[in-house]
Amino acid sequence: MVVPKSEFISTNVWRDDLFKSKVVFCTGGAGSICSAQVLALVYLGADACIVGRNVEKTEKAAKHISTVRSGARVIGIGAIDVRSFDNLKNAADRCVRELGGIDFVIAGAAGNFLSSINQLSVNAFKSVMDIDVLGSYNTLKATLPYLLESAAKHRVDPETLTPAPTGTGGRIIFVSATLHYAGQAFQTHVAVAKAGVDSLSNNVAIEFGPQGVTSNIIAPGPIANTEGMERLVSSVRRVDAFKSEPLGRYGSVRDIADATVYLFSDAGSYVSGQTLVVDGASWRLGSIG
Ligand code: HXC
Repeated sequence: MVVPKSEFISTNVWRDDLFKSKVVFCTGGAGSICSAQVLALVYLGADACIVGRNVEKTEKAAKHISTVRSGARVIGIGAIDVRSFDNLKNAADRCVRELGGIDFVIAGAAGNFLSSINQLSVNAFKSVMDIDVLGSYNTLKATLPYLLESAAKHRVDPETLTPAPTGTGGRIIFVSATLHYAGQAFQTHVAVAKAGVDSLSNNVAIEFGPQGVTSNIIAPGPIANTEGMERLVSSVRRVDAFKSEPLGRYGSVRDIADATVYLFSDAGSYVSGQTLVVDGASWRLGSIG
């Protein structure tokens, strides 16, 4: 089935070959948000490797993403648990063997459920910390040698400030959330984990900035038709709750994909160590995200 591009990217904004010859490596790539991010990058010319725990779901998502552009190379590697560094290292190495390198990384794998601290076992807290924080660290660690190689090839000239003719590379985005800004009942485990992910990104930006790597966070708010919303919102909020959001609507996965394209493009070259909140100002009203 051909995916209508208006579902995952703002048409008439981005150049079709923006990411030609680039490779993106994405954890959680079969999920609703990350697959839209990868769809947009592949549509704009990139090849991709997505990894996930579920083999069938990951391979199916890769096949689906590959339909977006003729000639696109998209690998889906299943049975990868981000809590295992070895799993991720094997996947990153395979990505490089088959696709030639890694220019962009999206650390998108996450674990979530609603639970009060009273009900939350120590192991449940640890599971979410391990998936979100350790998983993001493992993703970074497994791909860092390749990100550094790519960054070296794609540096903006420090004297003339002109973009590299080869385009961009050496960039990582961590997918976080907004629920830890103010605090959120039943989400302590996730809030603590996402605060750790944010800190990881900021430190990467400082430590590897001198080598040309940029590191940023995208913090989605309430995004319609996603697993996060299914898990968190539908059970606790009215069906028409989107009307009380500041923009009178929920976000779409396309909103997150467009933000991703911006951060990986030349236009995002001097943006690092930042959090791009894509939530229509929802968190300021205390909305879930
Ligand atoms: C309380 C729960 C629970 C629940 C699991 N646990 N679900 N506790 N309420 N609903 C407990 C288990 O009892 C166990 O503790 C511990 O968590 C680990 O559970 P396992 O099933 O053994 O672990 P695992 O297979 O690793 O599963 C990890 C998981 C699971 C996080 C618990 O939900 C998962 O795999 N999720 C992946 C997909 C996912 O969550 N996607 C959502 C992304 S959306 P005990 O003590 O019994 O051993 C998102 C949006 C965030 O992240 C932004 C907010 C809007």
